[in-house]
Amino acid sequence: MSLPNALTREEIIRWLHEKNEEKLHQLWQWADEIRTSVVGDEVHLRGLIEISNHCSRRCSYCGINAGNTSLVRYRMEKQEIMDCVDMAQKFGYGTVVIQGGEDYGIKKEWMDDIIRDIKSRTDLAVTLSLGERPIDDLEMWRAAGANRYLLRFETSDRTLYEKIHPSMKSTIFDRVEMLRTLRNIGYEIGGGIMVGIPGQTYVSVYNDLCTFQEMDLDMIGVGPYLPHPHTPLGTEGEEIRKQTPDQIANTELMTCKVVALTRILCPEANIPSTTALGTIDRQLGRVHGLQRGANVLMPNITPLHYRKLYEIYPEKAGNDSTPAETDQLLKELIAGLGRRRGKGPGGRLHTPHRSEEDSRGLPGIHKRMRGRTLIT
Ligand code: 5AD
Repeated sequence: MSLPNALTREEIIRWLHEKNEEKLHQLWQWADEIRTSVVGDEVHLRGLIEISNHCSRRCSYCGINAGNTSLVRYRMEKQEIMDCVDMAQKFGYGTVVIQGGEDYGIKKEWMDDIIRDIKSRTDLAVTLSLGERPIDDLEMWRAAGANRYLLRFETSDRTLYEKIHPSMKSTIFDRVEMLRTLRNIGYEIGGGIMVGIPGQTYVSVYNDLCTFQEMDLDMIGVGPYLPHPHTPLGTEGEEIRKQTPDQIANTELMTCKVVALTRILCPEANIPSTTALGTIDRQLGRVHGLQRGANVLMPNITPLHYRKLYEIYPEKAGNDSTPAETDQLLKELIAGLGRRRGKGPGGRLHTPHRSEEDSRGLPGIHKRMRGRTLIT
């Protein structure tokens, strides 16, 4: 491939602005080649269980935020969760993702017991995505056997972040800092962003990509921002968008560019083709994600009657499909791309020369990137 093996700030911003289809085809190919050669053709499947839509936070973009009083709230029973876990195993998924709002009705001991049960009964990896919990909770759940933690930082632009994610306490809670703590506790860590948040600029997304690379994230989720009518941003967003010079679009195309650049900059990461991407373009979103850098899918195995209530954005793709239907659909999608379903938990890959270079003591970002694709 004739494309250069490094990306400067100007090049990244140019790619984000690129409209020429032939050029974009080169970007897709570049990302796909790196995906093939570094993480291979396996598509890892993570069964997603949305265990609670209670949330104590007031994120202005999210449909389950505490201020949305029109929503019926639910919290799954342990047995319901274990039934989903059994289903994930039956379908041959390697991981269950236990996700919920930041719900302090979820007691740490209750979660600890569930994680222990899953780990004693199955070989599944357990990924948690339960918001900004206290360190005691995170340590307890790690000790119980949880393997990974997802916490998107949404945007690395501090001012924008504070606008869309009001702090609960007097201190500003830093998700990037929390991800570092999670790594120190021993979790594989997943971050990510929404693309096209009202007020988000090209430079801001460039900085997000740098943050992915600097943090050497194990998992990186990137999806388009989708307005929800029962949220502050859902009503005010259009006006903010108009007033923001250099506003980045919340389109399928822009999200794909960010996915592709993420793969190029973070070759080893597990990158999902997200449900939000599949929602903004029901026909092609998820396929494009997999063809342009992604190697993970997250089939939703939450009981159907809860799905509509876990409405972080409207009309989520696949909301009406049973787990068996989704499984069949994804099987066909993966085979249609000439790829294969991942076997086992599908954790973060560490290429051998990573540790070689580590032992040579290369500093910071160079150490992590092995000189392959540096932002310079
Ligand atoms: N549009 C797109 N993604 C959203 N999320 C929450 N609300 C929205 C929305 N309106 C994403 C956030 C969060 C993840 C669980 O879902 O990135 O971290």
